[in-house]
Order: sequence, then C-alpha cells, then structure tokens
Amino acid sequence: MRKVFAPLEFQSLCEEFRASGKRVGLVPTMGALHRGHAALIEEAARRADEVVVTVFVNPTQFGPAEDFAKYPRTLDADIELAQAAGASVVFAPSAEAMYPQGDETRVKLSLLPRFLCGEVRPTHFEGVSTVVAKLFSLAGRSVACFGRKDYQQLKLIERMTTDLFFPVTVIGVPTVREEDGLAMSSRNRYLAPEHRAKARAIPLALDRAVAAYAQGERSVARLEAVAREVVASEVDSVDYVTVADSQSIELLQGEVGERALLALAVRLGGARLIDNVVLGEEGSPLRGAS
Ligand SMILES: Nc1ncnc2c1ncn2[C@@H]1O[C@H](COP(=O)(O)OP(=O)(O)OP(=O)(O)O)[C@@H](O)[C@H]1O
Ligand SMILES: [Mg+2]
Repeated sequence: MRKVFAPLEFQSLCEEFRASGKRVGLVPTMGALHRGHAALIEEAARRADEVVVTVFVNPTQFGPAEDFAKYPRTLDADIELAQAAGASVVFAPSAEAMYPQGDETRVKLSLLPRFLCGEVRPTHFEGVSTVVAKLFSLAGRSVACFGRKDYQQLKLIERMTTDLFFPVTVIGVPTVREEDGLAMSSRNRYLAPEHRAKARAIPLALDRAVAAYAQGERSVARLEAVAREVVASEVDSVDYVTVADSQSIELLQGEVGERALLALAVRLGGARLIDNVVLGEEGSPLRGAS
C-alpha cells in the first residue's frame, strides 16, 4: 500500500499509472472508513487497475458550528480497510497541502446546492465541489465512485464534472446499510446506544414511503407525511423530509411522476443523519434487513 501526502506527487503517480496503460480509480472520503466506503473501493477496483482512496477531512465543507475539530481521524485503520477492499494507494494530504494559499479559488454551483441539505448547511456544498474539483485536477482521467447515500452530493458532482469537462467518469454506488437498515455513516459512531436504537426509524420511514408509492400514492404532501410521521417521534428534530426531482433536486409539488427522490435529514443525539430513496427506481431500504 502506497501512502502519498503531497498533492503533486499524487498527480505524478496517477500520470505514471496511465502512462503504463493502467486505469485509475478514485474514491474520495473523509476517512473513518466503514463498509460503505469499502463498497465504493470494490466498485472502483472492478472498473480500474489502480484504486486511490483519498482521506481528507476538508475544512471548507464544515460550517463554523459543525464538527470539524472532533471529526473522527483513524488513518491507520483506514489504510487497512482500504487495502483489504482493493486499493493500492492512499492519498492523505494535510489541509495546508490542499489549500497552501488559502481557498481563494472556489467552485460553486448555482442551483443544486440550494435545496435539501443546502438550506441548513449553506456553505457545505461549495466546500465539497471545491475539494472534489481539486482532487479531479490531481487525479486526471479516471473513474470516481461516490455513494448514493449522499444523493445531492452525487448529483452536484455529476453536474460539475460535465460542466467543467473533467475527464472523470462518475459512478453512483448504492447505499450500504447496517442489519437493521440504517445507512452506514462515519457519523453513526457519535450515536449512544439509545439513539442508535431510535435511528432504525430512518430506514423505516423510507420503507413506508416506498410501500405507499408502490400502492399508488403519488401526492408529494402525503408521501412526505407518511415518512415524516414515522421518523418525527423518534428523533430530536427533523431538518427536512422532502420529495424532490431525482435529477435536479428541485422540490416537487402536487404529484410525482415516474420517479422521485425522497430524502430526509434528522438530528439525533448530537448527530445529523441523512438518508434517501428514489421512488420508482429502488426498493425498500429494509429489503434484506432483519
Ligand atoms: N453507507 C454508504 N454506502 C455507500 N456509500 C457511502 C456510504 N456512506 C458514505 N458513503 C460514500 O462515501 C464517500 C465518502 O463519504 P464520507 O467520507 O463523508 O463518509 P460518511 O460515512 O458519509 O461520513 P459522514 O457520516 O461524516 O458524512 C461519499 O461518496 C459517500 O457518499
Ligand atoms: Mg459524508
């Protein structure tokens, strides 16, 4: 396993891989890796010859009152997990290395960051698009895997990649879940047992909406209400439970068509948890859960 800390060394390494005929796979993460990240690495390894996992807790995507300082940092364990899943390189730069002259240059999308998580985290997506653009510039021609758990982020990155002509193929990987259906997330480790138990209401809420949709419910308000009712009583607060267009993320009103995103964000015991399902495209998140 090769460990790289300097951005330009990472860039040269990717160029060397391609010069020797190898395809480069990229899996950007903030570390504290779990089985969801492993699924991204495995998918990248199916599509590329050398898979680079980036581990970078990106300061520009955290709000001033958010958990940047206490975000879990577990590089040694991350390297082991990444290697076991099929990665050959870990790129783990410092903040100073990624932003040597500050963050003067930023990448900002106009519409996609406004909805859903953007309403509560107004600067978050600008930090995400900026750092992913920097990583894509370093990696060059490659296949990059992102999780559908962060659905809005995936759509934003797909759009940025198209708009900026990055030579990167972006792949969305299905959400990996715990046995009870809870989406894996590094921030789940913030949950005390009592909150962890209550978090089961999140996939259950999505399940109920999937069931209502399957039975013909198409009213945006009623689909949102079905999910909200399941989750609201179990969590500390609800940031949103929203039906949105599955491509543009714009909020929908009235009736949904062939497919629609149902996304939610809740607060539970100090953690902010998100999850989603695309109605008309995916089955229940509890399918296969016990
Ligand atoms: N359960 C999961 N299944 C599939 N992909 C996931 C899952 N959780 C995270 N990912 C993906 O891993 C990549 C890196 O995400 P990140 O490092 O922020 O992990 P995270 O678990 O989302 O952490 P956090 O809980 O802090 O948001 C993203 O593309 C994200 O969508
Ligand atoms: Mg995340």
